[in-house]
Amino acid sequence: MTVDVFVDKDLCQGHARCNLICPEVFDLDEHGFAVVLAQEVPPGHEGAVEDAVQNCPEQAITIK
Ligand code: F3S
Repeated sequence: MTVDVFVDKDLCQGHARCNLICPEVFDLDEHGFAVVLAQEVPPGHEGAVEDAVQNCPEQAITIK
């Protein structure tokens, strides 16, 4: 099963927790907003991505 991850650019306020929790999937652009590096979550990082979803104060991250 693959997991796809998305960041809503309109909701992201640059809290950067996603990047701290899972830098393999979430980078930050020059303004500090999240950029998804791997839209399809690499094997073994599913838990970290779920943590990022839970820890984003803006609820900007969705997975499916
Ligand atoms: Fe943005 Fe949430 Fe990450 S606000 S930088 S998606 S923790």
